[in-house]
Amino acid sequence: MCGIVGFIGRGPAAAPILDALRRLEYRGYDSAGIATLERGLLTRRRAVGKLKNLESRLTCEPLDGRIGIGHPRWATHGRPNENNAHPHAVDGVAVVHNGIIENHRELRKELKLAGARFVTDTDSEVIAHLVNQQLKKGCEPIDAVRAALPRLEGAFALAFLFEGHENLIVGARKGSPLAVGYGQGEMYLGSDAIALAPLTDMISYLEDGDVAVVTRQGIDFLNSKGEHLRRPPAKTAGSSVLVQKGKHEHFMVKEIYDQPKVVGETLAQYIDIVSGTIKVPKAAKLNFRDINRVSITACGTAFYAGLIARYWFERYAGLPVDIDIASEFRYRNVAFDSSNLAIFVSQSGETADTLASLEFAKARGQRVLSVVNVLGSTMARASQIMLPTLAGPEIGVASTKAFTCQLATLACLAIAAGRDRGVLSAEDEALLVRALADVPRYMTSALELEPKIGELARNIAASRNALFMGRGTNYPLALEGALKLKEITYIHAEGYAAGELKHGPIALIDKEFPVVVIAPGDSSFEKTMSNMHEVIAREGRTILITDHKGASLAAGSWSTLALQDMPTIVAPLVFALPLQLLAYHTALVLGTDVDQPRNLAKSVTVE
Ligand code: AGP
Repeated sequence: MCGIVGFIGRGPAAAPILDALRRLEYRGYDSAGIATLERGLLTRRRAVGKLKNLESRLTCEPLDGRIGIGHPRWATHGRPNENNAHPHAVDGVAVVHNGIIENHRELRKELKLAGARFVTDTDSEVIAHLVNQQLKKGCEPIDAVRAALPRLEGAFALAFLFEGHENLIVGARKGSPLAVGYGQGEMYLGSDAIALAPLTDMISYLEDGDVAVVTRQGIDFLNSKGEHLRRPPAKTAGSSVLVQKGKHEHFMVKEIYDQPKVVGETLAQYIDIVSGTIKVPKAAKLNFRDINRVSITACGTAFYAGLIARYWFERYAGLPVDIDIASEFRYRNVAFDSSNLAIFVSQSGETADTLASLEFAKARGQRVLSVVNVLGSTMARASQIMLPTLAGPEIGVASTKAFTCQLATLACLAIAAGRDRGVLSAEDEALLVRALADVPRYMTSALELEPKIGELARNIAASRNALFMGRGTNYPLALEGALKLKEITYIHAEGYAAGELKHGPIALIDKEFPVVVIAPGDSSFEKTMSNMHEVIAREGRTILITDHKGASLAAGSWSTLALQDMPTIVAPLVFALPLQLLAYHTALVLGTDVDQPRNLAKSVTVE
């Protein structure tokens, strides 16, 4: 997963490209690079690691060209080093690539036999050699690209720069997202609207198979036959303001503290507190009376939000739910039922696995609803029904506020389903709506536990392993708690259904082993307490996260965090906060890179 940027204009290209790369760094920070034409000659500047390394390189060796392409990398093939950094250049052509060329080995062998000399370990370098081969045959740049594309298997978004062609950037897309932007005498390419926001709000998105011919005068679109296409520009809502951390040290903790407000705003879209009802956008034309089954598909934290929602759809609407990790969805021989509603959940709306599953379901006639945080994203545009979460830009790689906003939206959907299907009475609905309306207040109070959580984190930081456990909706929350800790502290952590521990994992327990027990005072509390005592009996160090009611009943835990008592339906939204803060403070103790943890990227745009 990487980003793509292209700029052609009157002024130097390096500065606007760098600015766009800052906005795309969430897609990868293994290395970054820029190529421009300096007096017609292809010139590159690349640096391993964070974008700031490239910035300092450009300060020492500035570029002045009026046309250029740029790329932040997340390594798929070839180690993160300067040599494997994009743009790749072969003779007079340079290319930046987002995606994976699945047949790169065969192409590399064939090109080597034809005399090509490879200098990187990447899959992407084959693209530059293929185009160069066509140029050598006398093809014009646009035709050279069009001739090379059919040879590529896999996913790609590409931008090409050609020596001696001061007024031409060629873009192409298959699978990975690519957009172009319109300016006055300036034109741009970018992986998404976020990258182009400071430059323009007039954007066209390329569809699969499109080639974009970008000059200072305008942008032309061609299909694989070279026929001209219309891709009318649309105004985007992308904000040009680069999100700031404010008084916070890291984006992650800023985003944790954003939650009372953004969850409140997300809920305000879907609940009418006066009438005590859920309001699903009319445009959705969604009535659960003719829906007999729900499937939920997503990745990572979004998948855990889906796992929690399954309990809600079953409990409040009596609806059977299939739930899949997106990267496995297509390998299941799913019997698609026409009365099924296929729900896809994503913060970025660009996660390749989830996108591919969405297209898979759509191609089989499924009604597709997506819960998405980035409004202009590919997933938002590809769905028949799109329910936005209003978390705002989420910069920290570890997802926090997007998760609780996804839960808020899915809870409203499950209640609407229960109402439409006659499972929930108007009184039941009103009770649940009022409970949801109180979430911001519960969250604000949960955040007051931060000092105590900071102390507990010291203990976790001293361990190399940790376990999280819970029952019911607290089980997926345990998975999420473990994921947060893994992502930003690199401590090995696992989430478990509390009842499952005694079937094996309890063998791991000793006095060095921290076990986080998630147990609000709900119907599963007593059983979870038994599981906690099984751990205590083996000297495990238990950190109990419960509410006042639970705290008054629980004894023997190494440490207890007591949140306010709250209705069962809202507990997953609120109990997520101490788990996020526990991971955050443990990372602070360990001094890891909280916002840009190693080996990760915010949006996974490759399969
Ligand atoms: C969560 O903290 C991670 N960043 C990751 O698991 C993420 O949830 C997953 O990649 C899905 O991303 P999406 O919501 O943008 O589709």
